[in-house]
Amino acid sequence: MSQIGQLLDTKRVIVCCGAGGVGKTTVSASLALAAARQGRRVLVVTIDPSKRLAETLGVSRNPEEPVAISAERLTAAGVTGHLSAWMLDPQLVADKVVNSFSNSANEASQLLQNRIYQNVTAMVAGMQEYTAVEALYEFVENDAYDLIILDTPPSRDALRFLDAPDRATAFLDKRIFNLFIPGEGGLIRRMATKLVESVMDLTFGESTRRELQQFMSLFGQLLGYLNQNQAEMKSFFAGDQVGFVLVTSPASEAVTEAKFFARRAVTDLGLNLNGYVLNRSLASETSREIPASAQAEGPLASAIAKLKPFAEAERANGAAHQELAGQVADTAGDGVWTCVLPNLGGDASQLQGLVSLADALVDDKCLARPPRKDAST
Ligand SMILES: Nc1ncnc2c1ncn2[C@@H]1O[C@H](COP(=O)(O)OP(=O)(O)O)[C@@H](O)[C@H]1O
Ligand SMILES: [Mg+2]
Repeated sequence: MSQIGQLLDTKRVIVCCGAGGVGKTTVSASLALAAARQGRRVLVVTIDPSKRLAETLGVSRNPEEPVAISAERLTAAGVTGHLSAWMLDPQLVADKVVNSFSNSANEASQLLQNRIYQNVTAMVAGMQEYTAVEALYEFVENDAYDLIILDTPPSRDALRFLDAPDRATAFLDKRIFNLFIPGEGGLIRRMATKLVESVMDLTFGESTRRELQQFMSLFGQLLGYLNQNQAEMKSFFAGDQVGFVLVTSPASEAVTEAKFFARRAVTDLGLNLNGYVLNRSLASETSREIPASAQAEGPLASAIAKLKPFAEAERANGAAHQELAGQVADTAGDGVWTCVLPNLGGDASQLQGLVSLADALVDDKCLARPPRKDAST
């Protein structure tokens, strides 16, 4: 079995990261197809649903739960396995967590409508993604799928979701929290609360103060619950069952950025980097012949002459991409592969495109090798 095939066969979760627009979602879907073909029950989770891909897979965006891709579509893609997709909006999932956690529907709707809650979840980077990933973690625990491929939102901080509860707690200092929770604690606490309340009433007006108090009380419980699972989530993501793939475009600045990102993910979060995917590479274009205009006549000759500079530029790009792939492979580190995926001429969000990328991914020929240091031996 190929190297990437093995990864797809053994992991419980594979996280795809990278900058926006490099092809994370496309690569996630292709990896998912490839794994489903290998007989695994696969769920692909995308956090920034793209309309076209959703159409291709025949699933709606932002559903409540994962949606199984129809057998007809899978058969058309040559897949006889089981593949589901969940294209979710983190805000909706975060709200759903609030609903399931709250003691009553009334309490949940109070929190969801609370302006402060709305602002805080938007303000604490990764908070919504964290809740989404936590929802995903349920699927790992209940064994509904063999493999979950997690596409991440397009940001340098995509992986910060694992730290989000910490940051939310720091943001909303616990002592401040406790002060606001009404009716608890001894007499001194209650007096302190009264004092804070009257100061707040003067400063913000009574209705804002009430809203803040309500928020503190409801969100405090929720945060406690999120924090409780966080340690478990973090150690799971750093463990052997989780793979981590960095998708990048094949240009050198993009690769530098990707490596920076990889270092952070490995050192800060303890993730295990498995490989780089250099997507939309022209590396395979270098072997293509540039037709000689001398052999043609008339309009064809002039057309070839006009197109030749473009062909030559493509070839030069291809050579640069090839060299870069060699460099990445050379510096990737032990056991970390570098996979080169072609730039599909057509639309990569069509099923046929995804299938051809899936084919390429599980063929070891896609793996770049470090340049030979000494050609004479
Ligand atoms: N290998 C490829 N060849 C051609 N087009 C591609 C390829 N990979 C991705 N694309 C296209 O590039 C665009 C961005 O891809 P997408 O996967 O949405 O990126 P991201 O999720 O990183 O933002 C989409 O239109 C997609 O169809
Ligand atoms: Mg995407």
